[in-house]
Amino acid sequence: MVKLTGNKSNIAVFISGRGSNLKYLVKKSKSKNSLFRVNLVISNNPKAFGLKYAQKSKIKFYVIKYKNIISTEKHLLKLLEKFKIELICLAGFMKIISKNFINKFNKPILNIHPSLLPKYKGLNTHFRVIKNKDKYSGSTVHLVTPKLDSGKIILQRKIKISKIDDVKSLEKKILKIEHKIYSAAVCKFLSNY
Ligand code: GRF
Repeated sequence: MVKLTGNKSNIAVFISGRGSNLKYLVKKSKSKNSLFRVNLVISNNPKAFGLKYAQKSKIKFYVIKYKNIISTEKHLLKLLEKFKIELICLAGFMKIISKNFINKFNKPILNIHPSLLPKYKGLNTHFRVIKNKDKYSGSTVHLVTPKLDSGKIILQRKIKISKIDDVKSLEKKILKIEHKIYSAAVCKFLSNY
């Protein structure tokens, strides 16, 4: 892996929708002791709400059409190089990151996943948690590897599920903790890298 340089690391955030984690990453990056700055936002979805936030925050953003995976990833790698990106944060990015892309980028990629990994990889985590009557759930920030939701765990936070929780209320509770742990995980990762 390539060593990160400088005081603040340049990070790119990849989104597909709401972008609330992007918003909190940007907020945190502006604090005095932050170890990173968000200087690029990528979305595969032109209608992603998070793009409005990128625009408002004056962060360069690009909408990338995922038509042909090979040319798309080539284009992405060029952009990442142009913006001197040292770390990618996936935040609700709904496209698969290929092994080829991971290898060619050759720098860390983090993802935030709304479950206590290794439990509930993939989609609809809250639905499965509620269906199985689990007592706890949470969110996990992990390194991205070619195997879905399986890379090294950087930070995880657990919450107790109450008897009256449903999929919606659980999603709300977990999103709230995600807004705290993603930036904390990025800082933890960067300071140990
Ligand atoms: C988050 O719950 C995250 O864990 C999952 O997708 C959601 C994205 O939310 N991967 P937002 O777009 O950041 O609001």
